[in-house]
Amino acid sequence: MQIFFTVREHLSESIPCIYLLGENFDNIPSTFSDNFPVSSLVHYFDKEQHPAPVFLDNQVVFAVPYLAPTQETYIHNEKMRNQGNLVAGLIQKHSLNKLQVFSDAVLSKESVLCFLEGLNLGSYSYEKKGDSEEYFRDTLQVEVVFSNETEHIEQEELEKLTTLCDAVWLTRDLVNDPPNFKKPSLYGQKIEELGKEAGFETEIWNKERITAERMGGLLGVSQASHEDAIFAKLTYSPKEATNDTPIVLVGKGVTFDIGGSNIKTSMAALEIMKSDMGGSASVIGLIYALAKNNIPLYVVGLLPITDNSISNKGLVPGDVITMRSGLTVEITNTDGEGRLIMADALDYAKELAPELVIDLATLTGNAVRAIGEEGAVFMGNIDETLKRALEKSGKETYERLVEFPLWDEYKEYLKSDVADIKNVGGSFAGAIIAGKFLEHFVDFDWVHLDIAAPAYLMKPSSYRGKNGTGTGVRLLYHFLIEQFS
Ligand code: BES
Ligand code: ZN
Ligand code: ZN
Repeated sequence: MQIFFTVREHLSESIPCIYLLGENFDNIPSTFSDNFPVSSLVHYFDKEQHPAPVFLDNQVVFAVPYLAPTQETYIHNEKMRNQGNLVAGLIQKHSLNKLQVFSDAVLSKESVLCFLEGLNLGSYSYEKKGDSEEYFRDTLQVEVVFSNETEHIEQEELEKLTTLCDAVWLTRDLVNDPPNFKKPSLYGQKIEELGKEAGFETEIWNKERITAERMGGLLGVSQASHEDAIFAKLTYSPKEATNDTPIVLVGKGVTFDIGGSNIKTSMAALEIMKSDMGGSASVIGLIYALAKNNIPLYVVGLLPITDNSISNKGLVPGDVITMRSGLTVEITNTDGEGRLIMADALDYAKELAPELVIDLATLTGNAVRAIGEEGAVFMGNIDETLKRALEKSGKETYERLVEFPLWDEYKEYLKSDVADIKNVGGSFAGAIIAGKFLEHFVDFDWVHLDIAAPAYLMKPSSYRGKNGTGTGVRLLYHFLIEQFS
C-alpha cells in the first residue's frame, strides 16, 4: 500500500474531509470556502472522545478534538500522532482511498506533520506472505488543505515525511517477515535490492571474507547453523556530504535466536525471536530514508547477520573464541550471542575512522524488564551535550531514551579465568553488562541503543501498531539531521 500526501488549494465537496480543529467548536468559522459551508460539516465524537465517522451525502467528515497545547510541545505533538492513528483506523474501516485534511488556523505546521505521520504509520499492516488476496486499497491519497492563516507545508516536506514513513514500513516488514523468508542469504539479497532502489552501495561478505576478516564472534555464533553468516556493508556517500569521515551505524542481525546450546525455554520468548534482527532492519530503514531524501550525510551501515541456532556443531558454555580485535572471550552463555557479533562489527568500524558510531540491538531481556516497551535504553562515551541532544530527539520523535551508566566497577562482572573476558556476567545489571562488553571493542565516539523492548510489540500500541515497530528509524533520522547536516 502506498500513501501520498499532496497540498491542495481549496476544499473539494466531493472528497471526505478531516477537519483538524485547532480551537474549540465555538470558534468554528462560518465558512471554509464559498462552496463548502460549515453547516455541511458534522462534528461527532464517540464516548471515548475519539473522532467517529458521519455519513453525509456520500461525504465522511471527522472532527478531531482540540488538543490544548498546555503541555510541552513534544507531548502535544505525540497526541496529534495518536489522533492521526485513530483516523487511520476509520479510513480503514470505511475503505477510503482519498481524503482531505483541513488544517485550522491555530495548529502549528509541526503538529499537522505529526498528525499526518500518525495517520501514515497507523495505516500500516503487514501483507502476509503467500497471501494471494489483494489488500483492500493499494493507495491512499491524502490532500492537505490549509486555511489562510495556517503556516503552509511545502509539497517537498510532505514527500520527505512520506519517505521517512515508507522507511519505517520497510523496517517493520523486515522484522515481521517469517524467519524462513529472511535467512542470511535471502536477507543479503533483499539488502542489495534496497540499495539499488534507494541509491546506496552494498557489499555482502560471505563466509570466506568473514573468515579472512577474522570475525571470530560472528563465525562462532553461526557455526551451529547450516546457513552461513553474512556481513553487510551499506554505504551512502553523497557528494555534498557535510561530514568527511562516516557516521557508522551497526545493527544486530540475528535472524532467529533460539539461544544456542543455552536454548531458550520459554515459548513466549521464542515466539518473538524472529525480531532479533530488528537493529539491522532499523539501520537499513534509516539509510534508505537518508538516501531517498538526499540528506547530505556520509553514512555507513555494518550488519553482522546470522541465526543463533542449536546443533552439535555449535558453541557450548566454556568454549573460548578469539574475536576480530584479538581479544579472547569465554562463552558462559550462548544466548548472549548478540554482543559477540556486534563486537566484531564495532572492531571493523575502527578502520573507517568514524566521526561517530551508533549501534542498535535487541540485546537484552534485561532492558525489557528495566523500562518496558515505553522506551529504549542507551549508553555510550559521547559527550554530555550530544547525549542530551539524543535524548531530545528521543522526546521529539517519541522514541524515548533512558541512559544507563557504564561505570568502571561493572568491568569486574566480565572477568574470566580462562580468557580475557567472558560474554555474560551473572544476573545483575544485564543491559549494562552487555554494553560494558561492547565497550571493550570501541576506541571512538560511540552510543549503544538496546531496543529489545520497543522494537517488537505483542499487542498494538497506537501508530506503532503491533509486532515490528521500526524503532530507531525516526529517532536517528531526526538526530543525525539535527546534529550533523
Ligand atoms: N535476543 C535476546 C534479547 C531479547 C530478549 C530481545 C527479549 C528481545 C526480547 C538476546 O540475545 C538474549 O538472549 N539475551 C539474554 C542475555 C543473557 C544470556 C545474559 C537475555 O537477555 O536473557
Ligand atoms: Zn540470545
Ligand atoms: Zn539475541
